[in-house]
Amino acid sequence: MAKLTSFPRKLVNFLKACRRLWATGGSTEVPVARLARGNFLVGKRILVTGGSAGIGFAIARACLAEGASVVITGRNPEKLKSAATGLASPALRPLAWDIADTSIATSKLQEAETLLGGPLDILVNNAGTYAATQFPHVTPDDWDRVYATNSKGPFFLAQALCTRWLSAPDRPLRKIVNLSSQGGFVGANNAYRMTKWDIRGFTEFLGARMAPENIIVNGVAPGLVMTDMQPDFLKQGDNFYTPLNPARRLARPEEIAELVLFLLTDAANYIIGQTLVCDGGYVLK
Ligand SMILES: NC(=O)c1ccc[n+]([C@@H]2O[C@H](COP(=O)([O-])OP(=O)(O)OC[C@H]3O[C@@H](n4cnc5c(N)ncnc54)[C@H](OP(=O)(O)O)[C@@H]3O)[C@@H](O)[C@H]2O)c1
Repeated sequence: MAKLTSFPRKLVNFLKACRRLWATGGSTEVPVARLARGNFLVGKRILVTGGSAGIGFAIARACLAEGASVVITGRNPEKLKSAATGLASPALRPLAWDIADTSIATSKLQEAETLLGGPLDILVNNAGTYAATQFPHVTPDDWDRVYATNSKGPFFLAQALCTRWLSAPDRPLRKIVNLSSQGGFVGANNAYRMTKWDIRGFTEFLGARMAPENIIVNGVAPGLVMTDMQPDFLKQGDNFYTPLNPARRLARPEEIAELVLFLLTDAANYIIGQTLVCDGGYVLK
């Protein structure tokens, strides 16, 4: 009997898979997998830039689930509002902040700390933007726009925060995680990839410079992730298939958040200045 009732559903699933195959050349679904955890970040005050969407949103949710208080940032107040609704946590504070405006880095840091009721313990330098134009068609405007958010913004934010941390009398464990990209590990044919090489280099420097100060700095380099940054793939809905990497799929934002979370725990305290690649094997090509 059970076999009979499940037959129509199997047929529907089969037909759906055929349709996906026809539309994209393949079909892959990705279940969310998580390690069992609890309370790894209790008492931590965390700033996640670009936490109003995509990977940053998933990182914020993971941090909140571990007991942290979190400020998420972004330029668009509506996106921040809907993220706050989605995260639905009393420990969450949204803050409108254009990371490209380096002149406000120090005052916004102060605002974030006021919202959290004390000094920050962790920065996740996640906010990022993309420009599709590639060499030899990159314009100076593309370059400046992408650089302002992806390279200049994170650099000056980390500099302002480390300056604050270094001027404090105590040295509790603090952490920074910078978001690079698989594009920071392959030939840089556009401004976006150039910024992601920047971030990787900055992470190496800052990791070595800050480790003696009990500030642990690392990075994560995602491959293709199903977010607003991938509008073409978003059209595939719940089909994560892509032929562009050996894993033959995109990642869910939660998969990147899991890796960032690991770096934020004490289990990762001996990893210094590394940018961990999480890309379905893309950079191995
Ligand atoms: N998705 C991918 O395939 C992929 C792959 C490799 C690396 N990454 C990196 O992962 C990080 C997150 O990407 P994502 O895919 O989650 O992107 P996303 O879905 O487009 O989200 C980007 C977030 O950053 C914010 N943001 C953009 N520009 C900003 C600015 N100037 N100041 C403050 N906030 C800003 C956005 O909010 P507002 O628009 O409201 O400002 C949003 O919250 C980025 O650094 C990206 O380069 C992504």
